[in-house]
Amino acid sequence: MDHFEHAGAGMGSGRNVAVFGAYGHTGRFVVAELRERGYVPLLLGRDQDKLLALAQAQPGLEARQASVDDPASLNRALNGAAAVINCAGPFASTAAPLVEAALRAGIPYVDVAAEIEANIDTFAHFAGRARAAGTVVVPAMAFYGGLGDLLVTTAMGDWTAADEAHIAYGLSSWHPTAGTLASGAVSGQRRGGRRVRYTGGRLEYHDDALPTLEWPFPAPLGPQSVIGEFTMADIVTVPSHLAVPEVRTYMTAKAAADLSAPDAAAPTAVDDRGRSAQTFVVDVLVRSGGTERRVAATGQDIYAISAPLAVEAVDRILTGRTRTTGVASAGAVFDAPDFLRALSAHLSLHVPLDTRG
Ligand SMILES: NC(=O)c1ccc[n+]([C@@H]2O[C@H](COP(=O)([O-])OP(=O)(O)OC[C@H]3O[C@@H](n4cnc5c(N)ncnc54)[C@H](OP(=O)(O)O)[C@@H]3O)[C@@H](O)[C@H]2O)c1
Repeated sequence: MDHFEHAGAGMGSGRNVAVFGAYGHTGRFVVAELRERGYVPLLLGRDQDKLLALAQAQPGLEARQASVDDPASLNRALNGAAAVINCAGPFASTAAPLVEAALRAGIPYVDVAAEIEANIDTFAHFAGRARAAGTVVVPAMAFYGGLGDLLVTTAMGDWTAADEAHIAYGLSSWHPTAGTLASGAVSGQRRGGRRVRYTGGRLEYHDDALPTLEWPFPAPLGPQSVIGEFTMADIVTVPSHLAVPEVRTYMTAKAAADLSAPDAAAPTAVDDRGRSAQTFVVDVLVRSGGTERRVAATGQDIYAISAPLAVEAVDRILTGRTRTTGVASAGAVFDAPDFLRALSAHLSLHVPLDTRG
């Protein structure tokens, strides 16, 4: 089926975007963001009752039950969709079946997976087929993985290689969703309880204790105690297209403690968009020879910000503003500085002039 036939086969609109896991915490932000941008979300998920409850709260939207172990249900669910955003995690279970379904439908696929192993699998299993199909598959198109990659790519500027990339997460707190905790547990099992880092140009599993150090976040946050080698999906997305042998991520010690607390509470909404009070700074430093380049982004609520990131990606794909096909990370597919500027309603960028070398 070619793309033209497909677009004409369903509801006759190139504005339909399927959201798998639509009733999850992140899925709801994505549905709202799609509506705001003039897209028509198709509400997809495995639980019919939860889907119907969401459809009642979102009048005029179509809900379609589908399960990752029933490919025919996924085919039906994607009928007439111009693209699919997968918000259902753990992605160890959902990414491959949804990418397969998107390839069958001939439509682009974007997910918000923060699971290092699942993101690696998406690159490893689908790179050739996605490229051959001329379509785009973008894993980790969210706060972790996607935003860090866009910032590193922006900081690199005209560099195509660097010695090191550092991504420091300055979270005021981290109240995790059930999906975050489940995904962390699955990743932990896949690693056999070991830790992971990216060094010497490859992924390394280890049992070393994680270092605590101070990271100099830009004002007004300033220096904060962070856990080093708190490894996030950026160690997959950044080296997928940039020659940087050392990619390190850091997390404010306070947020890391919140996440691992036995009674970790889910996020609570404090504004009419449903965002929590959590604030973030993502501070990126790249180093090549003696030269450093930096860029930072600040905003509110790491789950909420994932929606404009994923929807901006879909919008750029559907309007042909892409640089490559196949499985690719945000920084490889899109014009990174332009992408970040387009999110100015959600993200503030800080580029210190003294480090532009
Ligand atoms: N990269 C990032 O920065 C970033 C940002 C946001 C979210 N995420 C990831 O996105 C995922 C969802 O997070 P969330 O905050 O939205 O969590 P959530 O509110 O707990 O929602 C999880 C959603 O996934 C669905 N789901 C889980 N396993 C499924 C399966 N096998 N088949 C179908 N649906 C399944 C759940 O459906 P049921 O209710 O039916 O179980 C639910 O809709 C997590 O993996 C999280 O780590 C990543």
